[in-house]
Amino acid sequence: MTTEKRIAVVTGSNRGLGYAISRQLSKIGNRVILTSRNETDGLAAKGQLTNKGFDVDYHTLDVTNDGSVQQFTEWLRETYGKVDILVNNAGVNPTTKPEESSLLTVQLETMRSTFETNVLAVLRISQALIPLMKVQNYGRIVNISTEMASLTSVPTDYYPLAPSYRLSKVGVNGLTVLLAKELQGTNILVNAYSPGWMKTDMGGDDAPFTAEEGAETAVYLATLPDGGAQGLFFAEMRKFGGPIQVQW
Ligand SMILES: NC(=O)c1ccc[n+]([C@@H]2O[C@H](COP(=O)([O-])OP(=O)(O)OC[C@H]3O[C@@H](n4cnc5c(N)ncnc54)[C@H](OP(=O)(O)O)[C@@H]3O)[C@@H](O)[C@H]2O)c1
Repeated sequence: MTTEKRIAVVTGSNRGLGYAISRQLSKIGNRVILTSRNETDGLAAKGQLTNKGFDVDYHTLDVTNDGSVQQFTEWLRETYGKVDILVNNAGVNPTTKPEESSLLTVQLETMRSTFETNVLAVLRISQALIPLMKVQNYGRIVNISTEMASLTSVPTDYYPLAPSYRLSKVGVNGLTVLLAKELQGTNILVNAYSPGWMKTDMGGDDAPFTAEEGAETAVYLATLPDGGAQGLFFAEMRKFGGPIQVQW
C-alpha cells in the first residue's frame, strides 16, 4: 500500500493519551497506525475514529513482547515500507499499594515489570522501527515522560515518591538523550515530554487536564521541522502556552 501521507505509529493507543494523540495526528493529515495489545479494544478504538472519518489503520502490538514487535515491524515494512512518526506512549504506573510508594519497601519485581514496559519496550520498539525511518532519512520520535522524572525538581516537588514509575521515566529521559546523540546528523529527531496530569485511567478523575490537552505537545514534537529540537525534555504546552523545556 503506498501513500503520500506520513505514517504515524502510536503505542498503547486504544485509550487515554495514546487515543487522543492518534485522533489529533490523524486530524492533521497523517495516517495513524493505532496499536494495542488487546485486539478487541484496539479495533473498537479504531472503529470510533474511522466512523468519524479519520484515516486510521490498526495492528496489534504488545510492546513488551519480542514476537509481537517483530510481527508488527514486518507488517509495517510490507504494508507501508516506512515509518515517519513513532510515539512511545504505552506505559504503566503500578504504584497502588502503600509498600510500593517507598524505595525502602518497593518490590524488585514491581521495579522490573515497570521498567519492562516503560523503558525496555521503548528501546525495543525504537530499535525495530528506526531502520524504517532511515529508509527516507526522516523520523520524529516522541517519548512520553513526566515532570515527576525531573531529578532537578525532586527536592522541592510535591509528587508522591512513586519509585518504580519515577525511575522508569528517568530511564525514558536518559534513553531520549542517548538516542538523540546516536542519531545526530540524521533527520530523525527524538524528544521527550511531560503531558501533565490528565484525566485517564492512569491519571484519575481529579486531574486538571484532559488527554486531548495532554496530546497537543506530542503533536508539536511529532511534526517538528527539519533541524528542530533534538534530545530535549518539554513540558505540556497547554499549561505554559507554548513549548518550554523541563530541566532533566
Ligand atoms: N495520566 C497522566 O496523568 C500521565 C501523566 C504523565 C505521563 N503519563 C504517561 O502517558 C502515557 C499514557 O498514559 P495514560 O494516562 O493514557 O494511561 P492509561 O489510560 O493507563 O493507558 C495506558 C495505555 O498503555 C497501554 N499499555 C500498557 N502496557 C502495554 C503493553 N505491554 N503493550 C501495549 N500497550 C500497553 C494500555 O493498554 P491496555 O488497555 O491493554 O492496558 C493503554 O492503552 C504513559 O506513558 C504514562 O506514563 C500519564
